[in-house]
Amino acid sequence: MSDRVYIFDTTLRDGEQVPGCQLNTIEKIEVARQLEKLGVDVIEAGFPISSPGDFNSVVEISKAVTNPTICALTRAVKKDIEVAADALKFAKKGRIHTGIGTSPYHIKYKLNSNEEEIIERAIEAVKYAKRFVEDVEFYAEDAGRTDNEYLARVIEAVIKAGATVVNIPDTTGYTLPTEYGAKIAYLVNNVPNIDKAVISTHCHNDLGMATANTLTGVMNGARQVEVTINGLGERAGNTSLEEVVMAIKSHHDLDYETEIDTKQIIKTSKLVSTLMRMPVQPNKAIVGRNAFAHSSGIHQDGVLKNRENYEIIDPAEVGVRESSIVLTARSGRAALKHRLHVLGYEVEGEELNKIYEKFLDLADKKKDITDEDLEVLVGAEKQKVDTALKLEFLQVLCGKSTIPTATVSVNFNGDIFTETASGNGPIDAAFSAVKNLVKRKVHLEEFLIQAITRGSDDQGKVHVQIEHKGVSYYGFSANVDIVTASVEAFLDAISKIG
Ligand code: KIV
Ligand code: ZN
Repeated sequence: MSDRVYIFDTTLRDGEQVPGCQLNTIEKIEVARQLEKLGVDVIEAGFPISSPGDFNSVVEISKAVTNPTICALTRAVKKDIEVAADALKFAKKGRIHTGIGTSPYHIKYKLNSNEEEIIERAIEAVKYAKRFVEDVEFYAEDAGRTDNEYLARVIEAVIKAGATVVNIPDTTGYTLPTEYGAKIAYLVNNVPNIDKAVISTHCHNDLGMATANTLTGVMNGARQVEVTINGLGERAGNTSLEEVVMAIKSHHDLDYETEIDTKQIIKTSKLVSTLMRMPVQPNKAIVGRNAFAHSSGIHQDGVLKNRENYEIIDPAEVGVRESSIVLTARSGRAALKHRLHVLGYEVEGEELNKIYEKFLDLADKKKDITDEDLEVLVGAEKQKVDTALKLEFLQVLCGKSTIPTATVSVNFNGDIFTETASGNGPIDAAFSAVKNLVKRKVHLEEFLIQAITRGSDDQGKVHVQIEHKGVSYYGFSANVDIVTASVEAFLDAISKIG
């Protein structure tokens, strides 16, 4: 049987420390619920003493989530521990995560203390936390730069005091994989009571080593990994959940397993990225827009023949519908036909030849041709014919000190319907008006505006993805007026609901 690796998600604590990424309690509950669906074992929900907002979030997440353990962070300070215990009072399974710096830097310059005193404070904190909860995790902050012999003494002492999990953070992201792996191995071999606790990794990505360090930690005996969605976190971020989970899942030879439902990965990534307003870099492993995109003719041909020629992960396993073929001047008719089919256009013979010629013309001028370009190329005309809902009139009122308001008239099979609504901005107002008009429960899953080139007088391309009764529908439009393009794209998607 494979060894189980526990997934400790700290998106809502370490991830949320990123400037500008703060979430309110309602948003945190939404993320926590999605993390539960994803199947994480532990959710670090906040640092309750740090603010009333954090305290409240831990309380509300404890009420909203059933399966994962809810964890609250503290310093090795009695008051912190009392407040954390109070915040966890509704948790079905609660954990206090307490700790102190153990590196020479932290001991001398941050804590103005000495090694023996730090061990005493660590023991005291764990014992105090044990008064409130059974499950106590101890972190040795900056363990990455802590001497292994001293670290082993600290870890032995806190396990003796009752710690159930011992976290070995590479707080500054300094260690190399071999070094971090050796540190975990040292603890396994030199802490006599190490079998009484689970060893946890907590790696930061300052040198781009977080995933590698986490995996070498696991290979050397750690059985819990502390991770965040999209690798969010201070500075260069934390270890990314999706990378570790998919590395474990792809490498059967490692013989580890997690309880993560990997099909929920993309959904979770998008939710976190949207709510935290942190776009995911396009080439980010697993969740980046290009993670399953192929652009060279040879790769496209290879992938169309057999996906595994150029892909180690089936995109469906992480919740991506399929690999994307990025069309360039080097793509052939087969790739173009396939892409058009995916976008809902069935073209054959002469029609395909004509579109291919137009495509080659455009591909000579543009480096790569996106789905949106194809829609402009072939879809715009089709769309005008196919779309049952047509935008007849749009007026928006917006600007500084104005409540954005939009009036939208839509032609539905010859009848005109009009609605007015307000919103956070002109597009939000216009979308609200459309929603009132169509009277269908639709949820906006994705909304992207791009300029075709870079001038302010340029066409804006908008693509939207909406969800209705569990099914996603895609809409597109291009217009020099981005609000018009947005409403048209929204109507295009709604029209497809059928
Ligand atoms: O990076 C770190 O050391 C931490 C601890 C507080 C666990 O986030
Ligand atoms: Zn951290």
